[in-house]
Amino acid sequence: MKRVMQDACVIVLVSIVACSISLSAENGLQLVVRADQPGAKISPTMYGVFFEDINFGADGGLYAELVKNRSFEFPEAMMGWSEVKKGVAAGSLAILDQDPFNAVGPHYLRITATTPGEGYGVVNEGFSGMGVRKDENYLFSSFARGDKKAVLRVELVTTDGRVLAKANVKGLDTVWTKKAATLRPTATEAHARLQVLLETPEYVDLEMVSLFPRKTWKDRPNGLRADVVQWLADLKPGFMRFPGGCIVEGRYLSTRYQWKNTIGKPEERPLLVNRWNDEFKHRPAPDYFQTFGLGFYEYFLLCEDIGAEPLPILNCGMACQFNSNELVPLDQLDPYVQDALDLIEFANGPATSPWGAKRAEMGHPKPFNMKLLGVGNEQWGPQYIERYERFAKALKEKYPEIRLVSSAGPSPDDERYNFLWPRLRELKVDIVDEHCYANPDWFFDNANRYDKFDRNGPKVFMGEYAAQSVKTVSSDNRNDWRCALSEAAFMTGLERNADVVVMTSYAPLFGHEDRWQWRPNLIWFDNLTSYGTPSYYVQQLFSRNSGDVVLPVEVRSVPETVGAGFKPARAASKETPDGVTTSASSKQPGLYVTASRDEKADEIILKVVNSADQPASAAVQLKGTGRVASQGTMIVLAGRKLTDENSIAEPRKIAPVTSSFKGASGEFKHTFPPYSFTVLRLKTRD
Ligand code: AHR
Repeated sequence: MKRVMQDACVIVLVSIVACSISLSAENGLQLVVRADQPGAKISPTMYGVFFEDINFGADGGLYAELVKNRSFEFPEAMMGWSEVKKGVAAGSLAILDQDPFNAVGPHYLRITATTPGEGYGVVNEGFSGMGVRKDENYLFSSFARGDKKAVLRVELVTTDGRVLAKANVKGLDTVWTKKAATLRPTATEAHARLQVLLETPEYVDLEMVSLFPRKTWKDRPNGLRADVVQWLADLKPGFMRFPGGCIVEGRYLSTRYQWKNTIGKPEERPLLVNRWNDEFKHRPAPDYFQTFGLGFYEYFLLCEDIGAEPLPILNCGMACQFNSNELVPLDQLDPYVQDALDLIEFANGPATSPWGAKRAEMGHPKPFNMKLLGVGNEQWGPQYIERYERFAKALKEKYPEIRLVSSAGPSPDDERYNFLWPRLRELKVDIVDEHCYANPDWFFDNANRYDKFDRNGPKVFMGEYAAQSVKTVSSDNRNDWRCALSEAAFMTGLERNADVVVMTSYAPLFGHEDRWQWRPNLIWFDNLTSYGTPSYYVQQLFSRNSGDVVLPVEVRSVPETVGAGFKPARAASKETPDGVTTSASSKQPGLYVTASRDEKADEIILKVVNSADQPASAAVQLKGTGRVASQGTMIVLAGRKLTDENSIAEPRKIAPVTSSFKGASGEFKHTFPPYSFTVLRLKTRD
């Protein structure tokens, strides 16, 4: 019966007769939403975030610590620090490791003031300076040891030496003790520095010299930058993947990410080079290291705060295959597998279990209820399959309830991808992580990528994707509106195929304006402010308007009434592909459509991307609903030019505009603006 209906539609479209004419002949396009044919359920994890410490996303970014190289453990131990002599001051600085504070960070700084003058000591440059705000409190702390008579002066200063805040630290001891002071700047400054000066002719040893804003996300000590977390919270992400990315793999196995080194007291977490430190010759970052102040415990907490399912990704015994390609021999893989088993216990085990006890000790006796775990990042080849199999065997045996994420390699359609998928299917893996960095045309052209996908195999996690305006890893890539629009078009296809695609995330997440290695990124920040890119708002609109169940949409057209060059997209779900004349593509701009139902709100959600440079009028039919309330909500994200971007100066040049939508009914007309992404939420009453 359905086949007959589809054939009828094709005839209608070809000869422009019968049922579609009354609405479509006048306006050119007809969007028919089949509310009476609900399709796949949209997974609550459908839209999530991918976090990686790239572009100073963690240290110098999300992690609110303002001091760089606080533990003097960078290989160049004074990196970030310089000598300060005020007035006639004289003295010496030394990096020592005798009788250290602890073995994890054996180096510390000794300041000896022979002539203190107006102050002798050091200044820390922060991460391209330190962003501080007028009349807000900043907490200085350090483990210190020195002469009991020593007096330290701690100051926040501008680059030209103007003092913004100062405090004295006294009462030192000859054994290590934690000293603290509060600084309250008299002015806001994006590039402040922290000075620690001796005012007396003594010595002082310093370790873990730290400065945090008091106001962090949820006011937590060792906390996160509140404004940056807010961007994540506002996405209402279904999951958060962490800690990457290639950072999981490391350039070498010795520099891979090891979660056990990232928990416990911050001063007990050993420093590690960041793999993006020297990855790109065109964007060197020699001062990029991982303090792990933002470690696995903090990631789990963050997930809990923002309502995202945690998705940790672990190294599977392979270093980055683009770099050293080092492999752990299969007979030596056990410690890696054990790390994964222990992580599940850390996240989910009772507080009485060995790893659960560590979580409880850190302040979270209740389990985090982790349900997903990634085995390897962007691995490929038979070496990956062999290692994945060993992980899966051990993990499934002990924790069958954990869904495992496996890799499909770095590209959406190359020989590595084609090798992996059949094997992953044979292994009946749970979820396969696909990565797509490509130009916007690829995203427009691949809006139908999953329409013909195997419905019976593993589910798909579109784990890393972003349109590249120039090409992958080019430093000329822009977060422009064309990229975002192409991602929106692509995402209509992800959502329509929610029976296959169960998780998606844009990558990378963050970029520091002055310190990035990779672009484009979803959210940009400098030391004081942050903004969402057009791609951010696309993600947000999908995430916050996903609905629970996909509804098929038929898109019918009479192209000549719409205007030269305009083509509608293949927008129907897999049940109704024949209701479409032609597909929109990068060459034939047009409409990309998906529809869903929000059961709780009792709303039909229609998302329409118009990739053309002209408005598209459409007759919308909501079939199989009861009464439709005349007033709904409309959210439009549009740019005047495809090259438009947001920036620190113009953070909302492209941002969603919400208005009430009047005139909705079972059949209504609407014009979708050029270069736009529109979300219509229409109340239905059965
Ligand atoms: O997102 C940047 C990098 O791209 C990720 O670290 C890696 O997984 C991919 O190659």
